[in-house]
Amino acid sequence: MAFDVTKVRQDFPILGRTINSRPLTYLDNAATSQKPQVVIDTLSHYYAHSNANVHRGVHQLSEQATVAFEQARETVAQFLGLKVSRGCVFVRGATEAINLVAETWGRTHLKSGDEILLTTLEHHANIVPWQIIAERTGAKIVVVPLNGRGEVDLEAYQKLLSGRTKLVTFTHVSNALGSINPAKEMTKMAKAVGATVLIDGCQSAAHFAIDIPSLGCDFYCFSGHKTLGPTGIGVLWGRPELLDSLPPYQSGGDMIRKVDFAGTTFREAPERFEAGTPDISGAIGLAAALQYFMPIQKEAHAHEQKLLSAATEKLKAIKGLKIIGEAAEKVSVISFLIEGSHPHDIGTLLDADGIAIRTGHHCCMPLMKSLNIPGTARASFAFYNTMEEVDRLAVSLEKIRKMIA
Ligand code: ALA
Repeated sequence: MAFDVTKVRQDFPILGRTINSRPLTYLDNAATSQKPQVVIDTLSHYYAHSNANVHRGVHQLSEQATVAFEQARETVAQFLGLKVSRGCVFVRGATEAINLVAETWGRTHLKSGDEILLTTLEHHANIVPWQIIAERTGAKIVVVPLNGRGEVDLEAYQKLLSGRTKLVTFTHVSNALGSINPAKEMTKMAKAVGATVLIDGCQSAAHFAIDIPSLGCDFYCFSGHKTLGPTGIGVLWGRPELLDSLPPYQSGGDMIRKVDFAGTTFREAPERFEAGTPDISGAIGLAAALQYFMPIQKEAHAHEQKLLSAATEKLKAIKGLKIIGEAAEKVSVISFLIEGSHPHDIGTLLDADGIAIRTGHHCCMPLMKSLNIPGTARASFAFYNTMEEVDRLAVSLEKIRKMIA
């Protein structure tokens, strides 16, 4: 079936807005995606008809909320290519997921002399938790460099892997440059030295199908709000037996088996890591987002790739504009600089034309340092963006360039 972007856009009420009397051109999808009406309706319907706390109630509303919450976990498992949902833990987002792994797996398994291998592409959320845990355990952080196109240097990666490498963690897709890492190959290489592998799927989940069994990793995470879902909900997947072997992250209700003043025993995953009342509406809203997305995922990806090619060509034609990050495999993210102008000025001037992009270091200060730049302007496209919006961006940037020149 042909992908009908005009029809798809009707599912997203916010896309009908104007900004500065211009039609909104929303190109900040890597920061957060917009939400289809079905997600908005699901949240509102939940609160209007089914709101109750999960797991502990004997009344019907609680049972209904529990069923919907656990069905949401099944939907997440389906989205990640999993047959079993038990390893899917609901968290606030990828940041919490990574902190959870660092605080539980890291605290248990890392010791002085061990190495945590991560890449120059990482978001602060996949750097800082490891720095904190490295300081506490005596483990050392080792960083894989990039090649000139903004791709992980696989030869260097191979050389840095050793018996000391206890954890390899990398982003599936760079939020700042759009580069897609060869996650399956990198995981296989890490496994050959016996390392545990955590993949940050924050920027991949919205762009192409994720199949965890074929990746072969130990942990995978993503944030719901970047994948059409509500803010405040995300997923950490871990191999269930590995999760069961870890100490709890937060503690309280729902995650315990038995509490006695003499001591407490804990449940297995996923409840072990879901202390307190979870974000029930968020999980149900995320499931609605994924149910909406899965049937169109393939066509959506193909459409985004067309937007990426067209936008890359049009932006490259602008004098003085330099694209930062030209990986062979990219999602629809374009970071760029225009000679003689600051990225923030580009962002502000585009906003005057109703075009929303993001500027700055994109929570990747070490990446920017390695590129020897303070930041970039970043246009990130979703499947609901159009060729007309690509044109609008290019026309506005050309105008800005002339203004600056
Ligand atoms: N990490 C988000 C981004 O890349 C906020 O914009």
